[in-house]
Amino acid sequence: MITADLTNIRIEKSNLSSLKSVDFNALDFGKYHSDHMFLADFNGGKWHDMRIVPYQNISLSPATAALHYGQTVFEGFKAHKAKNSNDIILFRPEKHWERMNKSMSRICMPPISKEIFMDGVIEMAKIDRMWAPSQEGCSLYFRPFAFAMDAFIRVKPSDSYYFIIFCSPVGSYFAGKLNVKIETEFVRSAEGGIGFAKSGGNYAASLLPAKNAAANGYQQIMWTDAKEHKYIEETGASNVMFLIDNVLITPCLSSSILDGVTRDSIITIGKDLGYKVEERKISVDEIIRSLKDGTMQEAFGTGTAAVISPISIINYLGEDYEVPAPKADGFSKKVAKILNDIKYGIIEDPYNWTIRV
Ligand code: COI
Repeated sequence: MITADLTNIRIEKSNLSSLKSVDFNALDFGKYHSDHMFLADFNGGKWHDMRIVPYQNISLSPATAALHYGQTVFEGFKAHKAKNSNDIILFRPEKHWERMNKSMSRICMPPISKEIFMDGVIEMAKIDRMWAPSQEGCSLYFRPFAFAMDAFIRVKPSDSYYFIIFCSPVGSYFAGKLNVKIETEFVRSAEGGIGFAKSGGNYAASLLPAKNAAANGYQQIMWTDAKEHKYIEETGASNVMFLIDNVLITPCLSSSILDGVTRDSIITIGKDLGYKVEERKISVDEIIRSLKDGTMQEAFGTGTAAVISPISIINYLGEDYEVPAPKADGFSKKVAKILNDIKYGIIEDPYNWTIRV
């Protein structure tokens, strides 16, 4: 049981905002950061010294454990500027807190209390609320993360950590067509590994295969299982879903698949719309068969950054298969509209997913 001082956040405001230097009409994903950041330290067996300070570099020993052994986790969620008020609306931050603690537990990091996480998030939302873009499709992305701070290069769980939250005004993650390649050589994660955790190493493992695929015109890898390359797992920056014969099918969760918050939201909305939803193993053969026989209606990536990103082409063993473009009244468009309306406060949130600040 990890304890913490009562969440008493010390706030040091920035007296120099960089807000005016940002072109909100040309937002890339992840290029900018807002004026402040939240920090908490872990040592002596507890999280303490919660503070918000001007965004700044941090100083690290070259022996910092996270840099050598990857004891690091992160999260990502978004806030949108409400359409009909001055609020900003946070989408499912508590679910991200839950997932962050699951990731931390897998790599021996001390849990963060809900109070510290949520107080940090809400104070950041208040202090940098002007950074939430009003442009269509844009949002304020929150990046909570934690990493091992011991300056000690024996391989062991660290005794000290940093927990930091910063925010980034973002546009869409994928621009243009999303072509993916089913990977049959490299592996992102094996059962029993840390694939379900949002830990840096999973993303490092994806870089080389993604670079190779990009050189051939594919923006993302569609990962398959580590044992046989037979079953679909997820794509590089998102979970993946298929609509085949009017059934929504997505790989079931396992220790090698990320438990996506957007994945969960889409499954919930899909069921409420009356769709049959199957969370199960889905083989590459089944995907290719459905592409050939015309039963594949939609394929899309789902994630906080990706939101719902329709896949245009699936490549398998050197062959390109075209995925039908989503119909205006098709599954993904209908669900995307409901999600969007909840995120921007256009409709009542029937699921209690949002927090207004
Ligand atoms: C997210 O969707 O928030 C992610 O973490 C994907 C990330 C690799 C940009």
